[in-house]
Amino acid sequence: MNHALKTLQQRFITFEGIDGAGKSSHLQTLADWLQQRGQSVLVTREPGGTPFAETLRGLLLAQSMHTDTEVLLMFAARNEHIHKVILPALEQGSWILCDRFTDSTLAYQGGGKGADLGRLRTLARWVQAELSPGRTYLFDIEAEVAAIRRAAQRNTIDKFEQEDQAFFERVIQTYRCLAQEEPGRYKVLNSAQTLESVSRQLLGDFSAYAIPYLN
Ligand code: TYD
Repeated sequence: MNHALKTLQQRFITFEGIDGAGKSSHLQTLADWLQQRGQSVLVTREPGGTPFAETLRGLLLAQSMHTDTEVLLMFAARNEHIHKVILPALEQGSWILCDRFTDSTLAYQGGGKGADLGRLRTLARWVQAELSPGRTYLFDIEAEVAAIRRAAQRNTIDKFEQEDQAFFERVIQTYRCLAQEEPGRYKVLNSAQTLESVSRQLLGDFSAYAIPYLN
């Protein structure tokens, strides 16, 4: 393992969960917390994060396609994002808060749509090489509760949000398995609680995690 990257990537934080779990608002809370402490922070998302990857996002969220095509486009977007944005920002000592990363592909295309997890992991190793998030927050919520929240909050619904409850149940189960496999990287937050309570737990965990890596 490249020691310089191993240290730098501790500032690469990813946010995961099923649609409706509230991860995007918590990401902003953490960005504010870091900025108030004078840290350099980059907020980004997947699929997306570069102009080209955002174009792929537009296609991925709107068009129906073969699951393998979807997988390959997710990783194509990720490859651009890693090389143009993530690695350069880490090298400059910035924190990166990324709304979704490879765990989303494992959970949605793997768990949700049945793509072979071994194959997805091979692609992940190819595209990421040794890069891995230092910490991943899983905003854990039952599929049924997330569906109610989505119905209350959203006026436009993308392709993935149109999937049925059974799909989201498979997605959240896959996330839970991933979190069990890597307890050192994952922190699971029960997102059925109030936004304030989840935020408090997030900041409590993060402030302890971040101590060695604050500039
Ligand atoms: P999301 O990040 O939830 O954005 P918004 O809050 O604007 O809806 O939407 C991205 C969608 O893309 C989400 O439904 C999950 C899906 N997705 C995958 O299926 N696989 C992936 O690898 C990634 C990164 C996202």
